[in-house]
Amino acid sequence: MDRIRIVGGAPLSGTLPISGAKNAALPLMIASLLTSETLSLENLPHLADVEQLTRILGNHGVDFSVDGRRPSQNGLYPRTAHFTAARIVDTTAPYELVSKMRASFWVIGPLLARMGEAKVSLPGGCAIGTRPVDLFIDGLRALGAEIDIENGYVLARAPKGLTGGRFEFPKVSVGATHVLMMAATLAKGQTVLANAAREPEIVNLAECLTAMGARIEGAGTSTITIEGVTSLSGARCGVIPDRIETGTYAMAVAMAGGDVLLEGARPDLLQSALDTLAQAGVEVSPTNSGIRIARNGAGIEPVDVTTEPFPGFPTDLQAQFMGLMTRAAGRSRITETIFENRFMHVQELARLGARISLAGQTAIVDGVERLKGAPVMATDLRASVSLVIAGLAAEGETIVNRVYHLDRGFERLEEKLSGCGATIERLSG
Ligand code: UD1
Repeated sequence: MDRIRIVGGAPLSGTLPISGAKNAALPLMIASLLTSETLSLENLPHLADVEQLTRILGNHGVDFSVDGRRPSQNGLYPRTAHFTAARIVDTTAPYELVSKMRASFWVIGPLLARMGEAKVSLPGGCAIGTRPVDLFIDGLRALGAEIDIENGYVLARAPKGLTGGRFEFPKVSVGATHVLMMAATLAKGQTVLANAAREPEIVNLAECLTAMGARIEGAGTSTITIEGVTSLSGARCGVIPDRIETGTYAMAVAMAGGDVLLEGARPDLLQSALDTLAQAGVEVSPTNSGIRIARNGAGIEPVDVTTEPFPGFPTDLQAQFMGLMTRAAGRSRITETIFENRFMHVQELARLGARISLAGQTAIVDGVERLKGAPVMATDLRASVSLVIAGLAAEGETIVNRVYHLDRGFERLEEKLSGCGATIERLSG
C-alpha cells in the first residue's frame, strides 16, 4: 500500500492548479444514464472515485472514452470524457460495486426514470456515521415509485413511468437532491423539491441537465421546480472547480506559510471558508485567474466554526480546518452538525502533538507552538488530507499510511504540493 512521506517546515510558494470537482463530476457522470446520446464532460478530474464510477456505469451499459490528453501549462491534464448510454443493459447495481462508493447509489434515480425499474444495493462508502437512504426512498415514492427493500437491495419500480409531485426534504441532503432532480426530469408533469440542497454541485448538475433539454428552475435556492420532458439529449458540460480541494490547499498554505495562487479556483464557491481563513489572519485575495492565499510571518488566530449545508462552512473542510487550528494561538471550537462520527482525525492529529478534546459534536482545539512528525493513518478522504496539512507544518518526518483514501478525491496531491516547494513524496508498496 502506498504511503506519503512529508518533511515539514518548508513554506509554500508559486501556482497550484485546482482540478474539476469530484462531487460535481460524480452526479454529472450518473446523469449520462438519462439519455441514449453522448454526454461530454470537460475538466473531469482523474481520481479513483471517477474510475470506480466509470466501472459501475459500464456495468449498466455506458460506453466511456477520453479525449487525447493535452498537457496544460503546468503539466497537469484536464480531460474531456464522453459517456454514452445508448442502451441500458442492466438495471441492477450490485453490492460489490456500490459498497465501494456511496455516491454510486445515486444511479437509482436515472435508471428508474428512464427504464421504470432499478435494483440498487444499499451503499457503503466513507465510515462517517450511519448515512441512511430514507430521504431517497421517501422522495422517489413522492414521484410515484413503488419501493421495497430486500436482501440489502432497494427495489424501485415505476412501470408506467414516474409522475411529478411535491417533496419537502425533512433534512437537507445533497445526494437526495441530485437524485430527485435527475428522476424528475423524465417524470410526467411538475415536481417541486422544497428544502433542497443549495450546493454549487447541484447548480452544476441542473445546468448540465438543462443543456440536455430538461426544464429546471430554482437550482441553487431551496426550492427547485422541474417540468418533466419525454426524453433528454446529449450535451457538453463543464465540471466546476473543486471547492473542497481549493479550501484544502488554502489551509495548507495557511498552515505552512508562504504565498500561493490557487489557479482556476472560484471564490464564490467557498466564501464562508475563505471568510473563516481571513478571520484566522490569512491573506485571501481573489484575482482574475484564481485565489491568492498568503501568510507571511503572521500567527494563526483561533476561530470557532460550525459545519452547515451550503452556503455555510462545509463539513468536507472540517478536518482540514482542525489541522490548521492545532497551530493557532489559543483555543477554537469546531462543531460538526452534518455527520456523526466525523472526528476520526482527532486521534491521529494527537499523534503529531495536537491538543484536542471532544465534547459531543464539538472538538475543542488548544493550539500548540509546534507539531512533531510521526507515522499516522488515514481514515477517510477528508481526514487523511488534514494529516497532510498538519505534516506540512510538523517538525521532521510524517508518514501518512492508507493513501488510497487520498487518491479517491485529490488529483496528484503530492505533485501539486511539491510543485509549490513542499517536501512530499509518495512511497510505493
Ligand atoms: C455529499 C458529498 C459529501 C459531503 C456531503 C455533505 C458527494 C459525492 N458527497 O454527500 O462529500 O460531505 O454531501 O455536504 O457529493 N441523510 C439522511 N438520509 C438520507 C440521506 C442523507 O439522513 O437519505 C443524512 C446524512 O446521514 C447526513 C446528512 O443527511 O447526516 C447530509 O448528507 P448528504 O447531504 O446526503 O451527503 P451525501 O450526499 O452523501
